[in-house]
Amino acid sequence: MKLTIDKNKKGSYINPDIYGHFSEHLGRGIYEGLYVGEDSDIPNTDGIRNDVLEALKEIDVPVLRWPGGCFADEYHWMDGIGPKDKRKKMVNTNWGNVTEDNSFGTHEFMRLCELLGCKAYINGNLGTGTPREMSEWVEYLTGNGSSPMTELRKANGRKEPWHVDYFAVGNESWGCGGNMRASYYADLYRHYQTFLRNYQGDDPIKKICVGPGTADTKWTKTVLDACYEDAALGSHGYMDYITIHHYVFPDGWNHKGSSTEYSDEFWYMSLNKALYMESTIKKNEAVLEDRDPEGKIGLCVDEWGGWYDVEPGTNPGFLYQQSTMRDALIAGVTLDIFNKHSKRVRMANIAQMVNVLQSVVLTEGPKMVKTPTFYVFKQYKHHQGATLLDSYIAGNETEGPDNWKIPLVSASASEKEGVVTVTMSNSSIEKDVELEVELQGVTDYSVLEASVVNAETIRDYNDFGKEETVTLKEFAGHEKIAGGLKVKLPKHSVVMMRVKSASGTSK
Ligand code: AHR
Repeated sequence: MKLTIDKNKKGSYINPDIYGHFSEHLGRGIYEGLYVGEDSDIPNTDGIRNDVLEALKEIDVPVLRWPGGCFADEYHWMDGIGPKDKRKKMVNTNWGNVTEDNSFGTHEFMRLCELLGCKAYINGNLGTGTPREMSEWVEYLTGNGSSPMTELRKANGRKEPWHVDYFAVGNESWGCGGNMRASYYADLYRHYQTFLRNYQGDDPIKKICVGPGTADTKWTKTVLDACYEDAALGSHGYMDYITIHHYVFPDGWNHKGSSTEYSDEFWYMSLNKALYMESTIKKNEAVLEDRDPEGKIGLCVDEWGGWYDVEPGTNPGFLYQQSTMRDALIAGVTLDIFNKHSKRVRMANIAQMVNVLQSVVLTEGPKMVKTPTFYVFKQYKHHQGATLLDSYIAGNETEGPDNWKIPLVSASASEKEGVVTVTMSNSSIEKDVELEVELQGVTDYSVLEASVVNAETIRDYNDFGKEETVTLKEFAGHEKIAGGLKVKLPKHSVVMMRVKSASGTSK
């Protein structure tokens, strides 16, 4: 099997925001996972737990989406500002009917972004909110004049406006966000986005329109046709991004199966479904190429990841699941797909950051574990802000039961400041794979770093109070050969290598 990478064939810019995250008011994602409050015994900074913060800093989080998800369309932001003891309580009807005390609101979220050094992506409430409410949230966050909302923000202790990069008008409006038809949503989108005013000069908030949750592009077409009229509307029309959601439900919504005790068949089914992300992206890309050949609108995959049965004994509404080597492979193949489609895919947000679905970090009281997915994000962070390089796998083998066969190897490559980063994964349950890596355009090189995420079995995971079974290890399975490298990819592993050309490039 051969992977050819051509350093002279440069592709698109890999927007760092492809490596983004999502955190919703759901289960123990925000409360306990990220936010414990200032009075907690768990060490924290302004209520945000320090252990989780330190871990997240290791993976260079570029952007964080909040407050939902389905929760966003019932969230009234004014309930989450001002003195905490006066904040309204509500019932989180989407997620377990638990009491939401609104102690984590706008100020706390923006502080979290500040501590992480990441961009803010706020999801507005279209389902049960008014245009005024949405408009005022943007004014509260970013307004700099003398206006009711900026004065309110100042009265709540924040003098300077924040910078907000992204704002979405609703979430899954075809489902939990209002069960709307595409044409109805399109009209509402046109209406609401009008009042998302720009207070940020030449770096305006980017507007995000709800896209589909399947590969069916009817929704995308209807919404784009109604909202994108470039000639009349100047550079950005009404939107900057349209979203896609794609989850891996191993055997469908009703047979998701255990997060840890799955069959070999489920392994293949899960990875097969993860790879289906590419079809979903391609279909939507085609619609965008047709309506927006200049490429002004980006695709934003703002929810993705594996979704399994909740851990036994936990609240079914909390979506708490463990994360194994299967998730490491799902992350690897998915992030390679995003890199390869980075011309259009400009943001993605894994669902969800902590304690919900495919998390990078899990917590239990004061304890915390880094999941296999965490380590894959740590490997792939080197692609952030790099330039995609052309790459191609010849002779890729397939493995798995007839309906669920998957290619064994996935890969992508990029270059930043003269360093080529190559990520490769081997999805085989049994087989190590010998891969010849041809590095075209690299005359000589040295390996700066090589790491591998793998474990003894495909079902391994990291558990509280135990030594990590899945972690990032130095990878020694490579040797230099004429024109490139010979790499031995261990079974079920994700490998990352960074090589620096010693004598520049050649044709
Ligand atoms: O991530 C969990 C939920 O999945 C989100 O709230 C919703 O948007 C999606 O259906």
